[in-house]
Amino acid sequence: MGYSLRAFLALAAVVAVTDSSVNGLPSTNYVLHETRNPTGTGEFNSHRQWKRGSRLDPNAIVPLRIGLVQSNIDLGYEKLMQVSDPSSESFGSHLSEAEVHDLFAPADETFDAVHSWLVEAGVNASDIRQYANKGWLAIDLPVSYVEDLFLTQYHEHEREGVVKIGCDEYHVPKHLAQHIDYIVPGVKLSPPMLKRSIEKRADTSVNNYRKGWKPKQMPPALLDLEKALAPSSKLPKDLQDCARNFTAICYRALYQIPEVNVPVPGNEPAVFESGDTFSQQDIDSYSQKYASYIPKGTHPKVLSVDGGKAPVAANSPFNTGESDIDIDILQTLIWPQSMVLYQVDDRLYTTANNMSGFLNTFLDALDGSYCHYSAYGISGDSPGVDPSYPDKRPGGYAGQKLCGAYKPNKVISISYGEGEIDVPKNYFLRQCNEWLKLGLQGTTVLVSSGDYGAAMPPHEDSDSGCLSGSGQNQTIYNPGNPVSCPYLTAVGATQLEPGTTVLDAEGAMQTNLGPGAEFFASGGGFSNYFPIPSYQKTAVSSYFAKHDPGHPYYVANSDASNIGENGGIYNRAGRGIPDISANGANFRAFNNQSDGHWFGTSLAAPLWASVITLINQERALIGKKSVGFINPVLYSHASALTDIKQGSNPNCGTSGFTAVEGWDPVTGLGTPKYPDLLKIWLELP
Ligand SMILES: *[C@@H]1O[C@H](CO)[C@@H](O)[C@H](O)[C@H]1NC(C)=O
Ligand SMILES: *[C@@H]1O[C@H](CO)[C@@H](O)[C@H](O)[C@H]1NC(C)=O
Ligand SMILES: *[C@@H]1O[C@H](CO)[C@@H](O)[C@H](O)[C@H]1NC(C)=O
Ligand SMILES: *[C@@H]1O[C@H](CO)[C@@H](O)[C@H](O)[C@H]1NC(C)=O
Ligand SMILES: *[C@@H]1O[C@H](CO)[C@@H](O)[C@H](O)[C@H]1NC(C)=O
Repeated sequence: MGYSLRAFLALAAVVAVTDSSVNGLPSTNYVLHETRNPTGTGEFNSHRQWKRGSRLDPNAIVPLRIGLVQSNIDLGYEKLMQVSDPSSESFGSHLSEAEVHDLFAPADETFDAVHSWLVEAGVNASDIRQYANKGWLAIDLPVSYVEDLFLTQYHEHEREGVVKIGCDEYHVPKHLAQHIDYIVPGVKLSPPMLKRSIEKRADTSVNNYRKGWKPKQMPPALLDLEKALAPSSKLPKDLQDCARNFTAICYRALYQIPEVNVPVPGNEPAVFESGDTFSQQDIDSYSQKYASYIPKGTHPKVLSVDGGKAPVAANSPFNTGESDIDIDILQTLIWPQSMVLYQVDDRLYTTANNMSGFLNTFLDALDGSYCHYSAYGISGDSPGVDPSYPDKRPGGYAGQKLCGAYKPNKVISISYGEGEIDVPKNYFLRQCNEWLKLGLQGTTVLVSSGDYGAAMPPHEDSDSGCLSGSGQNQTIYNPGNPVSCPYLTAVGATQLEPGTTVLDAEGAMQTNLGPGAEFFASGGGFSNYFPIPSYQKTAVSSYFAKHDPGHPYYVANSDASNIGENGGIYNRAGRGIPDISANGANFRAFNNQSDGHWFGTSLAAPLWASVITLINQERALIGKKSVGFINPVLYSHASALTDIKQGSNPNCGTSGFTAVEGWDPVTGLGTPKYPDLLKIWLELP
């Protein structure tokens, strides 16, 4: 550390003019920049207050981060629409990774102004670190030094044995107010700090929000019951029983997906998996029985993220079905094209499954700048929320966290999720921006909408998986994350009703899978965090005008602290979920070498990933780029999908939402008509 007396004296000279201001009003050179909102909900779970402790030792070292004002953060959505909206002149003109970084990077003058102020104040320039996306500056400085730089006072803040540091307000030089977004620690607390000066309470308990963790995976559920239903006889043998035994051939028939394709390098789709791990034996058994054209041993290219490893033996406790089935569906429909599997996070983290955040380490691996990206008061991964590497525990991944190790695929399928409410809003906003950046670069991200209808799976904090608030007790619908992010495509599930065939209309997936899963149904509803995006406005207002569900509702405020207001059970002004859907019922596949019937929106995301991959290839063959963020095209060409008009997703003691004509919060716009979608995308630039 280069903080000699010389450096400190230089600083003192610069701020001498403001000397009296630390305990009083700042001099005219400085302006108040941020003040803590005493009733704010910013710091994760607001109901568990941090207790302010003593002032910090002036010589303690503060890991200071200065977030710089990013140029185009509010223009991101506009830019995404320019490249994704078929009516735009720039449709299809995706950006390169470097262009995306430049778009969001603070202007050079911002960086220069803050940097030179620090150097003038005596900070050793070689100690100032700047990150690839130019979003922030980092320096480790003594407390007294930072207090003088920002005319502030740092205090310890303690909660349940965890200590963070922060201040109630701080100031910045007037000429830098337009360049500095915020500082950490500031009115936002630091990451947890080890402080000898604080006496650990004897009854230190674990952070509460971790108790709220729940299984993040939406495992396709296995149905043991044999349904005695009459198969139809008017179809080819392979297609006679799709309502009871859904296979790849049923997918092809229902959605008119071609049997042959020309694999174009660079179009290999990817699946995200974490915790659950595929077994080659299961994949082989599946192919042998249901897709015999796929050679034994065919497998995805495994890309490990932070210690993730695959495959495992069929009887491994880590082989629980999700990966087997995602791979089965994709491999069958895109063969002879191959696919990529991102196996994310080390076994210690995935087994404990007690970090409330996820997907950040995956995104770090795809975009190096995301590792340090600052937005909404959060820089990089959140300690205690995201896994952190190197993981020094025995058996942990001891390497450095991957940053930008892999190039994002054109299509990414994710069949995992949790409740929107399970991560802090700012954490989610920051992550959602990253999906926007991938969309700008031409990647399509497909995410399952969840399997518990208008709610989430039951868990420790809520037996029902429903929300409480404003005096209500587990009666409020609970939208999912990451699926409510408006910059990705949310995929719900459908089913062939008992006794019907691929020639009949599908309904929304809804089935009683026994205790704990009585309300197994296509996830759908309205976000509490995101407003209705422009591409969805017409569809959602038409839904409310023609098919108002009739439930009481509220309009969520900016920090979603009024959930349940006026007896409302959903946010009338939220982004609607899902966008689209596909079959997710009675799918036949092997897990632990046993051939079962699988259900879930988990199946629908890889189905759509296959469809988009095949369309991208057809476009590539005529020299066109990947389709990227597909929602604007889909909402403006709804007739290229089969509208699903039956079924519903009840939960939380009420009837949920109903699948109706047009878009609905159960099945979205509906299921793919492959030839129609292909035609549209071949015509578009
Ligand atoms: C700045 O820091 C570097 C690296 O710690 C050190 O080599 C150098 O002497 C320092 N310069 C001054 C002026 O303190
Ligand atoms: C199809 O599913 C039904 C109901 O689960 C089952 O009884 C039957 O054996 C299955 N048919 C085949 C060929 O596996
Ligand atoms: C896999 O199947 C075998 C044989 O039925 C069984 O003994 C084993 O417990 C199963 N493994 C898991 C993880 O369920
Ligand atoms: C998660 O669980 C592991 C193993 O039970 C435990 O060692 C660790 O402290 C827990 N982490 C958090 C953040 O709760
Ligand atoms: C909410 O309902 C549950 C189940 O009926 C009950 O056990 C619990 O005490 C209720 N909580 C409140 C705050 O009323």
